[in-house]
Amino acid sequence: MIETADAEPEYDDTAIRFLEALWGDGYLSPGGPEEVDRVVEGLSLHDKTILDIGCGSGGIALHLIERHGAAHTTGFDVEQPVIEAARQRAAARGLEQKASFIQGPPGPLPFADRSFDVVFSKDALLHVPDKDALFAEIFRVLKPGGVFAASNWMVGHDGEPSPEMKAYVAAEGLSFAMASPVRYAQAMRSAGFTHVTVRDRNPWYREVARGELARLKGALYAQAAAAVGAAYVDKNIKTWEAMQKVLDSGEHRPTHLRGWKPVG
Ligand SMILES: C[S@@+](CC[C@H](N)C(=O)[O-])C[C@H]1O[C@@H](n2cnc3c(N)ncnc32)[C@H](O)[C@@H]1O
Repeated sequence: MIETADAEPEYDDTAIRFLEALWGDGYLSPGGPEEVDRVVEGLSLHDKTILDIGCGSGGIALHLIERHGAAHTTGFDVEQPVIEAARQRAAARGLEQKASFIQGPPGPLPFADRSFDVVFSKDALLHVPDKDALFAEIFRVLKPGGVFAASNWMVGHDGEPSPEMKAYVAAEGLSFAMASPVRYAQAMRSAGFTHVTVRDRNPWYREVARGELARLKGALYAQAAAAVGAAYVDKNIKTWEAMQKVLDSGEHRPTHLRGWKPVG
């Protein structure tokens, strides 16, 4: 991804308003708090320090504190509008002491080695082209014995995407650098992660997305159009139609990832 501090944000205020109308306040990805709970299922986050990579507008970082008892969450994102929105959300909920939000360029993470008990990410890593460098960085900032737990949008196979997949990615118009679950797991193991697991979420999101498209065309249309304009909603309806095809074919593959940094 080529991005500088001056580049136009992909997740600008209009995108934030639209996605939050669809997915909920503070959420720029599907599933709300329930899907976040599934990503961290079985992990104890109580009193832990967490890094949320690609934190967006901050709803998840705050949820990890409020629902899971995290001691502190650091949200990191490359874009300024989402960081501003996240900071305002934390202040409105009185959580500025427990949640900090940091904007920085893509590339090496601006944190010291062994800083966090947990690294979390939700549907953001698809924006990072170099998966090996990404996981080397995640591994570096985790404490020994720490865990990485994420959800991420992937493509079912490596190599040439289908014409339908290319059409969908073009419709999104975002800097997607999608890779397969196999490729992600390989990059995690190369970085040193153990007990790497992947969990296919295509069957879940395929049906959720169908409902989102129906809402966009129906009950949500007027509210979303009032927030961002009808043309913006119409464009996204086309994007969702293109997405549904590749969800139904299985090529678009939202997936959970987990892995551990060994203690020794
Ligand atoms: C689909 S949004 C998800 C936001 C949030 N995780 C959520 O689920 O609500 C993707 C986020 O990834 C961020 N992003 C893009 N490239 C990134 C990078 N190289 N490092 C960290 N975050 C990045 C975007 O700015 C955006 O906020």
